[in-house]
Amino acid sequence: MDVAIIGCGYVGLVTGTCLAAIGHTVKGVEKDPRKLKTLQDGHCPIFEPGLQELLNENYASGQIQFTGNVKDAVRDAEVVFLCVGTPPKPDGTVDMSFLEGAGKEVCDALAEMNSEYLVTIVVKSTVPAGTNRKLYNFLREQTKAHVQVVSNPEFLKEGTAVQDCMNPDRIVIGGESPEAFRMMRRLYDPLIKREDNFMTMNWESAELTKYAANSMLAARISFMNEMTILCEFYGADVEDIRKGIGSDNRIGPAFLRAGCGYGGSCFPKDVAAMEHISKAAGYENLFTNAIQTVNKNQKKRFVDKIEAKLGRPIAGATIAVWGLAFKADTDDIRESAALDVIQYLLDKGATVRAHDYKGMEHMKQVFKDQVEWCTDPVTAAAGADAVALTTDWPQYTTLPFRKIAATMNQPMIFDGRNCLHRDVMRENGFQYFPMGRPP
Ligand code: UGA
Repeated sequence: MDVAIIGCGYVGLVTGTCLAAIGHTVKGVEKDPRKLKTLQDGHCPIFEPGLQELLNENYASGQIQFTGNVKDAVRDAEVVFLCVGTPPKPDGTVDMSFLEGAGKEVCDALAEMNSEYLVTIVVKSTVPAGTNRKLYNFLREQTKAHVQVVSNPEFLKEGTAVQDCMNPDRIVIGGESPEAFRMMRRLYDPLIKREDNFMTMNWESAELTKYAANSMLAARISFMNEMTILCEFYGADVEDIRKGIGSDNRIGPAFLRAGCGYGGSCFPKDVAAMEHISKAAGYENLFTNAIQTVNKNQKKRFVDKIEAKLGRPIAGATIAVWGLAFKADTDDIRESAALDVIQYLLDKGATVRAHDYKGMEHMKQVFKDQVEWCTDPVTAAAGADAVALTTDWPQYTTLPFRKIAATMNQPMIFDGRNCLHRDVMRENGFQYFPMGRPP
């Protein structure tokens, strides 16, 4: 099928490349001239495992192309994906300006086409309930084109986005047109392993499914993070509790890993948006409120613990922060736990030396020369009074710990992701402090 993707950011580029890989002809629209040039040179502007390779194959074969012009892409398309950002405004409400702009441009393109064939507009962006219905009404008023709108929320995770996109555990389509549902079924056919993985529902249910999924996942993490307080007080092990409850198939094991707080461009934004959607519906959402409060407190608690255990005043101490990205396998630092952890450390007067495998350049823009930037974790730890591990890069688990301990002022490590082995750390001379686990 002929597919247009409006917005080649994270979701748009992964979706477009994967749709090209399963045989569709894709035109991606990118308005940022620098990003467009990068894409037209065949390069991926973001770091995502496997994406550059998939792009290479499909760009070389012409299966995916890039343009700066919406009309160029929409002209032949049967399916038009809107994949523009819906970032939070300072008050936490959703900024819809990019989506509205893209909707208008697509509408203008459709008005010129007057196509008798159905064009399905697919809203992939995460949007408040009611948005798809409004877009549909707007398009019906403004154009004579045979057009339908469906909501198709995205569930891919950074770091495994290509894999998630090629092996979706469900495809959710919201709308009210059986014809558009059939079109989406045909589009996604090669990715549908079981018929019940393809779900159709009304617009509002699909829109809220996205917020509910991210809020539920964030709630699980915040719940386990809150458990770390009890575990540390009573001497329990949050990892044992994770296994103990995760083996109950009503609960399941995923997204129960405690740590120094969740981050990223999605959970914080979507939980905040859910709170505002609730306010708009006339009530205060106590649940999303609690998820966010626990997450904020967890990062503070992590630094308070460092201060309490350090054995010397934190003001003037040197802390090495390992991990700046909001999780491993990405260079994305948006809402990363390290942002708050570093800020709290600086506020307390500590000297911070930081390292990350991919996110360092972005973090430099935030803290500039307030932090010493280190090209490897060993250098970051040399002479430090403690290491604070904030991102679960697997590389941090196989470092030469004995050598590191010997170069530190005091070999102390605070594992904010519970990814190191207590015995290994102890054997190598470290005082080891995980989250919600006995030291
Ligand atoms: C999240 C969702 O998992 C995706 O399903 C969704 O499509 C995406 O948001 C989105 O809305 O676009 P993502 O933000 O890429 O994906 O990353 P996750 O793997 O979910 O991790 C988010 C944060 O939670 C990270 O900071 C991670 O360290 C933390 N986390 C995750 C935990 O602290 N514990 C866990 O058990 C799992």
